Amino acid sequence: MDRSYQKSSNLLCLSVFYVVSLFAITFMMIHFIQYNSEKTAPKMNDVVVVAVQDEDPVKNPHPPYDYNSLLPCNLTKEIKNAKLNLKTVQRSFSKCVFPLITRFFGNPAGLLFNFSTVLSVCDDEEAIRDIEVREFALNSWIVLPKCKENNTLLTLGVAKDTNSDEWVKKSIPNLKMYGASGLIENSTVYENFQNFALGPGGDSMELEVMEDGILQNKTMPLKSFEEYMTELKLTKIDALWINPYYGKFSFWDYIERDGWLAKHNITICQMTIEVPKGHGNQWIEMIKSMETNSDFVFMRPTTTKTGGARAFFINYRDPQCTRKYLE
Ligand SMILES: *[C@@H]1O[C@H](CO)[C@@H](O)[C@H](O)[C@H]1NC(C)=O
Ligand SMILES: *[C@@H]1O[C@H](CO)[C@@H](O)[C@H](O)[C@H]1NC(C)=O
Ligand SMILES: *[C@@H]1O[C@H](CO)[C@@H](O)[C@H](O)[C@H]1NC(C)=O
Ligand SMILES: *[C@@H]1O[C@H](CO)[C@@H](O)[C@H](O)[C@H]1NC(C)=O
Ligand SMILES: *[C@@H]1O[C@H](CO)[C@@H](O)[C@H](O)[C@H]1NC(C)=O
Ligand SMILES: *[C@@H]1O[C@H](CO)[C@@H](O)[C@H](O)[C@H]1NC(C)=O
Repeated sequence: MDRSYQKSSNLLCLSVFYVVSLFAITFMMIHFIQYNSEKTAPKMNDVVVVAVQDEDPVKNPHPPYDYNSLLPCNLTKEIKNAKLNLKTVQRSFSKCVFPLITRFFGNPAGLLFNFSTVLSVCDDEEAIRDIEVREFALNSWIVLPKCKENNTLLTLGVAKDTNSDEWVKKSIPNLKMYGASGLIENSTVYENFQNFALGPGGDSMELEVMEDGILQNKTMPLKSFEEYMTELKLTKIDALWINPYYGKFSFWDYIERDGWLAKHNITICQMTIEVPKGHGNQWIEMIKSMETNSDFVFMRPTTTKTGGARAFFINYRDPQCTRKYLE
């Protein structure tokens, strides 16, 4: 009697569990599709950089910036009164960020949700607060060059609206703009533009995408990050913008101090990275590894309107980068 009661209650529990899971899965799928609204909704775990939000109007809160009045960058020239102590930048960052963030390591959703409120204080730390980060559009940041040199921007996941990208182009007249996107087919702002989705490799991938409110299968050209970088042949990227990306694919594996980019002598001076909601685990893995394996510190920790996380990263270690942006 008791036993069969237990059995049927187990069964009940199990069915409730299934029903709840089904709801959860359905909800997640709907969310995923809606997040991109009219755009692509990658189902695959390993497809990346397709989605992008349109940005708010450009603003320019800082004093006018005149690129043409700068002197050429000269690494051999000694700096007498460096504006920033780079060791302090790193120390301030570590001292502030890691103690605050460890309690979220088992709680990725909580980390994304609280990312901005918990970590914003670190922007006021010694040396960090002296870095001249400009917000040129909503949640878009840049440190402008302090000396003249070739300038390169690479955007993974170019948005439909590129007004703010244009502002950067105007501020840095010799900026070479490289970009890729699975969402738009061409760009008038990016002189070197390619239409593909970043993924694990292969020629193309079938994706279920929402187009004009109808779910349909679409073949999307696909390229791996290694392939793309090898093709571009860049050795220095002044700014890398990574718009929301999906899946298990982790950019940080490429960007960390001993990662793929470093092994291929590709230096990045500054980055803006965003992960969408639900990808807190990747964000945590990235931040954890920054304690020991990173040339970057981040600022402007932001929880986005759609529940993702975004931040601005700057290289405090590469002499060419620090000369140009920090010292
Ligand atoms: C760079 O600075 C060094 C030392 O001041 C100077 O000798 C050299 O001419 C400079 N190079 C350029 C290209 O200005
Ligand atoms: C973090 O976010 C969660 C919601 O995901 C909230 O319930 C929690 O109170 C927050 N924790 C802290 C320490 O702010
Ligand atoms: C800078 O760009 C110009 C024009 O593209 C090129 O000729 C030159 O070699 C570049 N200089 C360096 C140091 O990469
Ligand atoms: C993309 O746009 C550029 C500049 O507007 C134009 O020169 C080029 O022909 C276009 N490419 C394609 C494939 O439409
Ligand atoms: C897309 O293709 C898959 C596999 O071929 C199929 O199961 C699915 O129903 C298709 N979706 C649509 C919306 O046609
Ligand atoms: C990277 O640079 C180092 C030192 O300049 C050189 O020894 C190495 O061969 C380079 N590696 C690649 C993959 O170009």
